[in-house]
Amino acid sequence: FGLLTYDPGYTNTASCKSSVTFLDGEKGILRYRGYPIEQLAEKSTYLETAYLILNGELPNQTQLNGWHKDIMAHTFIHENIKKLIDSFHYDAHPMGTLVGTVAALSTFYPDAKNIHDQACRDRQIWRLIAKMPTLAAFSYRHSIGLPYVYPDQSLSYIGNFMSMLWKKSELQYQPNPILEKAINVLFILHADHEQNCGTSVMRAVASAYSDPFSATSSAIAALYGPLHGGANEAVLHMLAEIGSVDRVPEFIKTVKSGEVSRLMGFGHRVYKEYDPRAKICKTLANEVFSVTGVNPLLAIALELERVALQDDYFISRHLYPNVDFYSGLIYQAMGFPVGMFPVLFAIARNTGWLAQWQEFLVDPDHKIARPRQIYCGSEVRDYIAVDKR
Ligand code: CMC
Repeated sequence: FGLLTYDPGYTNTASCKSSVTFLDGEKGILRYRGYPIEQLAEKSTYLETAYLILNGELPNQTQLNGWHKDIMAHTFIHENIKKLIDSFHYDAHPMGTLVGTVAALSTFYPDAKNIHDQACRDRQIWRLIAKMPTLAAFSYRHSIGLPYVYPDQSLSYIGNFMSMLWKKSELQYQPNPILEKAINVLFILHADHEQNCGTSVMRAVASAYSDPFSATSSAIAALYGPLHGGANEAVLHMLAEIGSVDRVPEFIKTVKSGEVSRLMGFGHRVYKEYDPRAKICKTLANEVFSVTGVNPLLAIALELERVALQDDYFISRHLYPNVDFYSGLIYQAMGFPVGMFPVLFAIARNTGWLAQWQEFLVDPDHKIARPRQIYCGSEVRDYIAVDKR
């Protein structure tokens, strides 16, 4: 096979050059455009961080106001997309609905194919960042049989999302500031993570010059998987199945013996240290629980972490809690059903996907993604007619 390198899972292959996110898995460092994740989580908002990730610099006040206005102006979705959401079964998984409706947006915005025009790309970026929360909130309300709440453009980006999810009366929705801040933080933590599975899919699809709605829908599909964005949902199922703190050691044994394949929310392809996002989530959980009441599954999660971090199996493999270990507990305490967890991840990660899409399009090294393979099938053989087989 000549000079071909065999690298399943691309553990040792850099597929691109990128200036968006810096990640040092050995030291547990994560930075967007050079800014430490800890500082952004403490001081920024999701929308401001989105601007940073997409444009490379933090906005000044005028730029931030303009950015907010551009995004909020696009928060409404076409009534036919609303009908499309109506057509999904009431118990459709909201991630499936999101994959379908984001893909459908490409048929509503055929101008999105004009990907080499900067002004056109900007418009699609506004649309995607603006409309994903609307699609998510409408899917949620559809699943519980409540009428849709249309966007309120006078609220903040996250406040409007909360309103579309939880508004119960004609009065303007007043977001709880602690919960609004918590969603901002969780979205900042999830906004980008260099060449993860979903982002690599985004780049691979976009490498064929597909429109950004189709590419984003593929990235969401990748994120749907339980080894990726579906992990926060899987963590909650796992904690509920364990059921009580005293059953934790028994559960850990089943993971080590291979009876249960994975401790969900643990381990990471790149982090061989404590995921810095998980640290922030752990602290954030207490702030949220001061408003919502403590999630009873927290005690099981804390005990799992304590037992695992003292166990040779996990120590020798450098397996620590990742971002998804605690994020689901917070989302559940806020009242989100587990099916919405990966959807929230997708809304947040949308920024990173779009930044990497745009970076890739203007990269002089741009090439269509087309890996090679090592063929292991049959040698040449002759076709045999069906009656002779
Ligand atoms: N529980 C038990 N064992 C594990 C786990 C786990 N969560 N993760 C890895 N291992 C073991 C694995 O069995 C293997 O052991 P051995 O060397 O004896 O065969 C060793 O650790 C290395 O695992 P790997 O599968 O080669 O590692 P990877 O880099 O391919 O996988 C991962 C990374 C995140 C897919 C994996 O750790 C995992 O499945 N974790 C659980 C799912 C999860 O929490 N995913 C969310 C990731 S963070 C959010 C995101 O980026 O999407």
